[in-house]
Amino acid sequence: MVLPRDYLLLSVVALIFCGSSISAAAAGDVTAGRKIAHQHCARCHVIDEKNKFGGIGSTPSFKLLVTAFKDWRTRFKTFYARRPHPALITIEGRGRLREDLPPNAHPIELSSKAVDDILALAEDIRRSATKP
Ligand code: HEC
Repeated sequence: MVLPRDYLLLSVVALIFCGSSISAAAAGDVTAGRKIAHQHCARCHVIDEKNKFGGIGSTPSFKLLVTAFKDWRTRFKTFYARRPHPALITIEGRGRLREDLPPNAHPIELSSKAVDDILALAEDIRRSATKP
């Protein structure tokens, strides 16, 4: 038998779960994402106008990534698991930093929030890149 009290509990649980997934999707902060990207990604990628002549020529710019690939969002959500990043970047709570790296590898550990922020930045770059 399901008591009214159980319904109440269920709806509270549902609210917590739905609420958290909604806020997780909207949690990214463009400004924070830009800062993180300039700090950690800009030595290989061109991020925006600020490092237009930076990066490494053979590495795709963020603008290229968000315009050339249909699945750019997935690529940005999972960049840390895609080559070459696992060798240099780990996300807190998702796997361990490699310990077999040479001393000049500069391994980077980012938070999950940083991944959301970077995604928010990618969305922002995509918006400006596809503006008519
Ligand atoms: C050491 C250089 C280097 C750094 C630092 C680096 N990247 Fe990359 N990244 C690359 C290269 C090279 C590729 C292209 C890989 C390929 O095409 O196989 C790439 C590809 C990507 C892609 C596309 C992945 C795919 O599978 O298509 C994303 C998204 C990305 N990088 C995001 C980031 C973010 C975000 C950061 C910073 C937190 C970062 N990268 C830091 C070198 C780097």
